[in-house]
Amino acid sequence: MQTKYLFLSCCLFGMAITPLTTLAGDLTEVYRISRGGRIYDNWMTTLKMKTPPKETHASYPSGGETKGSATWRCVACHGWDYKGTKGTVARDLRTWMGKDPQQVTAILRDPVHRYTPELLPDDAASDVALFLAKGLIEPEKYIDATSGRSRGDAARGAPYFQTICAACHGLDGRKLNFGSDKEPEYLGTEANENPFEVLHKIRNGQPGQEMISLRMLPPEVAADILAYEQTLPVH
Ligand code: HEC
Ligand code: HEC
Repeated sequence: MQTKYLFLSCCLFGMAITPLTTLAGDLTEVYRISRGGRIYDNWMTTLKMKTPPKETHASYPSGGETKGSATWRCVACHGWDYKGTKGTVARDLRTWMGKDPQQVTAILRDPVHRYTPELLPDDAASDVALFLAKGLIEPEKYIDATSGRSRGDAARGAPYFQTICAACHGLDGRKLNFGSDKEPEYLGTEANENPFEVLHKIRNGQPGQEMISLRMLPPEVAADILAYEQTLPVH
């Protein structure tokens, strides 16, 4: 679909205004950073991997909450706050902000991480590295870590939510159910129970799903949207 579209736009624009042809296929840094955010969240789903690793990651501690494929997600070890509070590795990845992304790529290939190019190809490794080096925020600036409440303003977030998110999630956030019929989980549920995760997803999108990424808007807007979502019904 995308390739077709690119091809078509190349032909059309190529005939009319030549300089645009150079822009048509170029991925911007912001696009790559947001893809890197989805890779951090779940690279196996983002890359539509047919055979993700089944065994528990060797660096995942035996006392951890999960096992199998899920232990290969960056977030399983490094957490939604990027410093492992709810993950298993107490390392502040935010110290990598502003550093050379190539150094991060090298870490991913090390014996601790074991992301071979067969698992995480170079383009994916460099996008997640770019996310750490240029795309991280300090989520505690936007969420009170103790109460889990967004520091944003729900009234300011409402129009964004209603004109953007509601198209897919419904005005009350209950159109999509992330849980089961028995134990439904809606946006309101998630926003209150896992605010750090929701902030990450607002910024970067949902792996493998047709959800938008709001990375072009300032993080303050994401915090306002989160604040509004925390007022939505949880059941
Ligand atoms: C199974 C657990 C696990 C997973 C999954 C994992 N890491 Fe790590 N990561 C670690 C451990 C353990 C360390 C500390 C390594 C050390 O002490 O040398 C670490 C360290 C790092 C560091 C260096 C931090 C520092 O300042 O020393 C970076 C950067 C990093 N990981 C990025 C990632 C990224 C990106 C992903 C996903 C593509 C990922 N990690 C997935 C366990 C994991
Ligand atoms: C184009 C459709 C679309 C739009 C627009 C959209 N989403 Fe989503 N969103 C989805 C889909 C599809 C899923 C995955 C649902 C699933 O896994 O069952 C999802 C999942 C999520 C999740 C993950 C929940 C979880 O626990 O996995 C969050 C959080 C979320 N969306 C928040 C938002 C917010 C906030 C906005 C507005 C800024 C938004 N979405 C806009 C389609 C959309």
